[in-house]
Amino acid sequence: MTATPIRSELRFILNGQDVVLANVAPDQTLLDWLRLSRSLKGTKEGCGEGDCGACTVLVGRLTPVGGLVYEGVNACIRFLGSLDGCHVVTVEHVAGDGERLHPVQQAMVDFHGSQCGFCTPGFVMSLYALWMQTPNPTDQQIETALQGNLCRCTGYEPILRAARAISSYGGTEKDPLLAERKAMIARLKALRDGARVEIGEGRHRLVVPANLDDFAAVLEASPTATIVAGSTDVGLWVTKHMRDIAPAVFIAGLDELKSIAMKDGVISIGAGVTYSEAISLLSQHIPAIGPLITRIGGQQVRNMGTIGGNIANGSPIGDTPPALIALGATLTLRKGAERRTILLENFFIAYGKQDRQPGEFVEALHIPVPAPGEKFAVYKVTKRRDEDITATLAAFCLALAADGTVASICIAYGGMAATPKRATAVEKALLGQPWNENTVEAAMERYAEDYAPLTDMRATADYRALVARNLLLRFYMEITDSAVAAQVSRYEAA
Ligand SMILES: Cc1cc2nc3c(=O)[nH]c(=O)nc-3n(C[C@H](O)[C@H](O)[C@H](O)COP(=O)(O)OP(=O)(O)OC[C@H]3O[C@@H](n4cnc5c(N)ncnc54)[C@H](O)[C@@H]3O)c2cc1C
Ligand code: FES
Ligand code: FES
Repeated sequence: MTATPIRSELRFILNGQDVVLANVAPDQTLLDWLRLSRSLKGTKEGCGEGDCGACTVLVGRLTPVGGLVYEGVNACIRFLGSLDGCHVVTVEHVAGDGERLHPVQQAMVDFHGSQCGFCTPGFVMSLYALWMQTPNPTDQQIETALQGNLCRCTGYEPILRAARAISSYGGTEKDPLLAERKAMIARLKALRDGARVEIGEGRHRLVVPANLDDFAAVLEASPTATIVAGSTDVGLWVTKHMRDIAPAVFIAGLDELKSIAMKDGVISIGAGVTYSEAISLLSQHIPAIGPLITRIGGQQVRNMGTIGGNIANGSPIGDTPPALIALGATLTLRKGAERRTILLENFFIAYGKQDRQPGEFVEALHIPVPAPGEKFAVYKVTKRRDEDITATLAAFCLALAADGTVASICIAYGGMAATPKRATAVEKALLGQPWNENTVEAAMERYAEDYAPLTDMRATADYRALVARNLLLRFYMEITDSAVAAQVSRYEAA
């Protein structure tokens, strides 16, 4: 076997320029580097934790099939180590030759989308990403694209008007990035030399594996290294908790972890697939998952964050684990060349403890699609609709027998225990019983056997206990009477 070639520098493209960096710390954020090393100060720092969008830049990356996609990301929690082979575009580059404003910028000016201006570059970049893919978006698409951008001055309406008007200022055919697409693909392909990137040692060591097998080998040799996928959790360890993440292994660019396919009623997702990449296939086959994903962070977070990372971090308030547990998902873990597949619910052992050995990583996730007639629903309860972390999340998957009794039921909650957890006592009270209000009310009495929730800044223990019970009733009402529209995913103006 030939040894993997090693390169000791990162290579990417910033706006129009090639960048080669031999001296990069694993925790160096793109935002700090842009502002402090490159004096590109159009990209702002607001929150430093992926919430406000003031730091939004575009990152263009080659897709596994050789295309080029540009996505808005949060530079404040994106590490330089994840950018090897990418094209970073900042607000300074949007207008191309700089003679005239870009249609996105001109619309923001004309519709008074900017007041103090602090949030404006971030809004411009998010709108730019939307316009490139969807030049004439619906209001809902605009709102979804802007969930991760906060403005305290404008009240948003002028920004929404600007967003609706962008295409009237010019079509995408004249856009500088799109015009240079072919040349940029060639430049990015030329950066791909199949080498592993290794920079620094010990507390300064940064590794970008050459491929999946190389990742397995790197992790086996350095079992305590921090795996960094989308960095939407790890980024905050650095910016908010000043944690040392070295040695860090960056896996966002590994094509082999980006596969997503449906076969024999099971959707298999590589651990590197982001929410934005997964949403289309998942919503097509499991419609209830789509609205859940659009309530995870903002678009920038969904463009970076992976479902694999959401599972691997073991958080009791991660949104996807309860939904996937209710669906009976399994997880493939890999260490070196060895693989094992376990039920996802068994991965979560205790708070901060998962069934993952040193040197082992999450390789893929397998989600059975509900059979025809099976009912699946997931409810996320938060203080505000968008960009908020779960107080309580419930997922239900139910099959009824021909006589109307419960043939199978799987219920899982987040925010109710130290791990994402099944409601086994409640399930037992439902199984084999007629699916009616009496059965559901009797089952609601069993929640205390399954959960003893905590009080924290998101909700009190009493609130969580009450809402958990009521979500079962809501599920019953929704699937029993189609006239009951309990699911609110959007608030219309009166
Ligand atoms: C503003 C904001 C809003 C958010 N909102 C939500 C929300 O609404 N709901 C929600 O659930 N989460 C939310 N999150 C958290 C985060 O986005 C998710 O948990 C995300 O899925 C993490 O994925 P990642 O790829 O970014 O993981 P990373 O941050 O890269 O990694 C997370 C953890 O998983 C480990 N890891 C990553 N990949 C692997 C692998 N393949 N094998 C083994 N270990 C691995 C890492 O070492 C780390 O411990 C939010 C985050 C931000 C910044
Ligand atoms: S600075 Fe607020 S999202 Fe990055
Ligand atoms: S214009 Fe001031 S924060 Fe948006």
